[in-house]
Amino acid sequence: MKVAVLASGTGTNLQALLDQVHRREGIEIVAVASDKPEAQALERAAAAGVPTAVFERAAFAGDRLARDRAMADWLRERGTQLVVMAGYMQIVSEEFLDRFPDAVINLHPSLLPAFPGADAIGQAIAYGVKVFGVTVHFADAGVDSGPVIMQRSIELPDARELDDVRPQLNSIEYQILPEVVRLFARGAVRISPTHPRRVLVGPSAVLPES
Ligand code: GRF
Repeated sequence: MKVAVLASGTGTNLQALLDQVHRREGIEIVAVASDKPEAQALERAAAAGVPTAVFERAAFAGDRLARDRAMADWLRERGTQLVVMAGYMQIVSEEFLDRFPDAVINLHPSLLPAFPGADAIGQAIAYGVKVFGVTVHFADAGVDSGPVIMQRSIELPDARELDDVRPQLNSIEYQILPEVVRLFARGAVRISPTHPRRVLVGPSAVLPES
């Protein structure tokens, strides 16, 4: 399965994928794209010999659709079958999603539907929650609103600062994102045919061979 990763920042989740699933179990990361030329994720990809490209909105005269079109073209040229948004700080257009049907996923550092959008951890601390967590979900045209694939939680009743939470959630991310990508490679992730919000994961998702 050919996987592309979109990342805007440090790319530690990309690194987890490079370390844990790249060139294993039939999975290959074939492309890393960013909206930020300075993203450290690009250096991580280059160090692993994975092709990179930058699609800055400014380079498309601020036209988000044109940017997404160019990015989708490049990812398709590379043979991408699954797009993973890992710290990608842009919303992708509906047109982009249509180019990769049921094959664009996003990682978000909260237990959705709580705390979508930017600064999810800060929002959760400000709310005073005792249980934090991470969600991997299908991307849709909304903000962190697509069907949930996998979630994992951790109790942190005394959390007050970002640093009390972020490292703990990062460790969870580095486990569940590679886990979800492996499940996709096995054909073990599928939106329920009877319930569009429900995602079948694991053996129940695998279709019998015809
Ligand atoms: C992760 O915490 C992810 O959940 C959030 O942005 C962060 C990306 O970190 N959306 P990195 O670039 O993978 O290091």
